Amino acid sequence: MSKRTLITSALPYANGPIHLGHLAGAYLPADLYTRYLRLRGRDVLHICGSDEHGVPITIAAEKEGITPQQVVDKFHTMNKQVFEQFGIDFDYYGRTSSATHKETSQAFFKTLHDQGLFKKKTEEQLYDDDASMFLPDRYVKGECPKCGHPEAYGDQCEKCGSSLSPTELINPISAISGKTPILKKTEHWYLPLGDFQQKLEKWVDSRENWKANVAGQCKSWLKSGLEDRAVTRDLTWGVPVPLPDAAGKVLYVWFDAPIGYISATKEWAEKRGEPDLWKTYWQDEETDLIHFIGKDNIVFHCIMFPAMLMQHGDYVLPKNVPANEFLNLEGRKLSTSKGWAVWLDEYMEEFEPDLLRYVLGTTLPETKDSDFSWKDFQARINGELADILGNFVFRATSFTQRFFDGAVPKPESLSEADKKALHEIDVQKKQIETAYDNFRFREAIAETMNLARAGNRYFTETEPWKTRKEAPQKCANTLYVCAQICGALSLLFHPVMPRKMNLLREQLGIPANTTWDQINDHLVPAGYLLSDEPILFNKIEDDVVDREIEKLKKKAAEAKTEESSYPPLKETATFDDFMSLDLRAGKILKAEKVKKSKKLLKITVDVGFEKRTILSGISEFFEPDEITGQTVVVVANLAPKKMMGIESNGMILMGENSDGVLHFVSTSAEPGSPVT
Ligand code: 2FM
Ligand code: ZN
Repeated sequence: MSKRTLITSALPYANGPIHLGHLAGAYLPADLYTRYLRLRGRDVLHICGSDEHGVPITIAAEKEGITPQQVVDKFHTMNKQVFEQFGIDFDYYGRTSSATHKETSQAFFKTLHDQGLFKKKTEEQLYDDDASMFLPDRYVKGECPKCGHPEAYGDQCEKCGSSLSPTELINPISAISGKTPILKKTEHWYLPLGDFQQKLEKWVDSRENWKANVAGQCKSWLKSGLEDRAVTRDLTWGVPVPLPDAAGKVLYVWFDAPIGYISATKEWAEKRGEPDLWKTYWQDEETDLIHFIGKDNIVFHCIMFPAMLMQHGDYVLPKNVPANEFLNLEGRKLSTSKGWAVWLDEYMEEFEPDLLRYVLGTTLPETKDSDFSWKDFQARINGELADILGNFVFRATSFTQRFFDGAVPKPESLSEADKKALHEIDVQKKQIETAYDNFRFREAIAETMNLARAGNRYFTETEPWKTRKEAPQKCANTLYVCAQICGALSLLFHPVMPRKMNLLREQLGIPANTTWDQINDHLVPAGYLLSDEPILFNKIEDDVVDREIEKLKKKAAEAKTEESSYPPLKETATFDDFMSLDLRAGKILKAEKVKKSKKLLKITVDVGFEKRTILSGISEFFEPDEITGQTVVVVANLAPKKMMGIESNGMILMGENSDGVLHFVSTSAEPGSPVT
């Protein structure tokens, strides 16, 4: 175990408020881990801040008719505050528009430049002639060359997750003017990631205990071969490229943002009055650097940033990057533009932070996408927090108040059952520890709740309401043991529900500085006078969660009317363009999932005159069996295309709802009939 741990949470873009998806991806797991390590008495520093550069910010500013600075000022302040209120325990929350960050990221770039790392290249890029600007990243939309999604961005297709460059898009459209961009030459600095291929392969292979989803994504990137990546952009908003021949160019946001972790650590050290202390966390080999992120950030934290750090030469590299998958909401993909999100500030107007910390903690998308629903929120609060944990604490403490004048009774001649119940503390503690150490937070939380379950069972089985009269010492022993389990729970559950558990810990007189190692089966001394018990958890009524579901639906409906969710019309096609497509009725004979692909189905279609293999990205929406026998419309004269090593001959037409759900365009014509 190293001397210290530096934890970073992905810097959220300061272009909007924080929602449940953000929390489940990075911030809650990072906070659970930070609090756990602090309890263990480890030297731990948790760094985060606002990502204030990049196209997402300028697009938000243009939409609102304000400056990018105004956008980031508003959301930086708001997000910093909401994280605090939710109990996310950052040591420092920086921002990438700060002077320290400008200086740090420019110096980083300059060092790599002076080492001769970058390749300077002139290439043709998309340019909007009307707006007189280049269209990097999200300034351009078009069809994804990998999966055909019609609204892929210039940097990424959100449907298939492919990383793209603007010129790869089919039929690109400027996000500013809605027009087709032209190609224009421009000069940029490229990070030759290919030069790091072997070093990165070796490094990724040497990482221990990485999650399968993270290691898998890294290996697949490495397998497809790393290519040069531009680390500068033609934009006015961002960190200016610190070179004399770079007027009008800024650093690519994914070059400067991870350096934001370093600049925020510098500011933290400065604020503490120990300006060099940041070096201990970033440059001493005895630091474990852990990045908490969502899965869309894996390549930047596991490939690009490590390459930058390796090249710089004097930084520690991440020890682990426990990235999470995505959180869905009520069975649907979370979408801020479609109003399908629960915002943290709105949540906190109605409920306490610790309730969500618990429920979300039990639902984290650790190995695959998971779902948050208000009914599950209610079920877990009522059935677990109130009925198991709250009930156990209440039974134990109120019984002690009523029949022992609030004083924890003195144990004598403990029975086997008493000893076994006390021993559960140690057994569960070990399990919880292993789960936290391996970033399995859902398991850590479930095992902690299991201790409360064991406590409840023990209370019921020892029947203190009977032994109170028949065998008073037995009753005293039960209450003593229960007080110890409550004491252990107040600490073991602390990372998850810090506020609630502080109340419980104080009620039991356990000092605030008690560490994890001190959690044992005699935390609450006999004779200790319990203070009045607060009710830890109240049940949530049906109408309360029904209101939240209604609120969500209303917001989604408003978003739909506010902003038409219909994609813009493509440029006018001539009659001849249309006639060049040969559409035919086709009957689906067979369908099967393509191995190693989440999206693709391999479909055999009878188009009358022959049987075709067509690959279609619809696996998320249809089971193979369910589509067999349907007659659909096929683009029959499309050039063949290979995907996942299989040749696809044609395309099946689909209608796509605003929520991304696909439907077949069906026909009752015979297979092979022209569709005109
Ligand atoms: O995906 C995002 O929200 C990015 N702003 C995360 C940046 S993480 C880091 F590199 F700063
Ligand atoms: Zn795609």
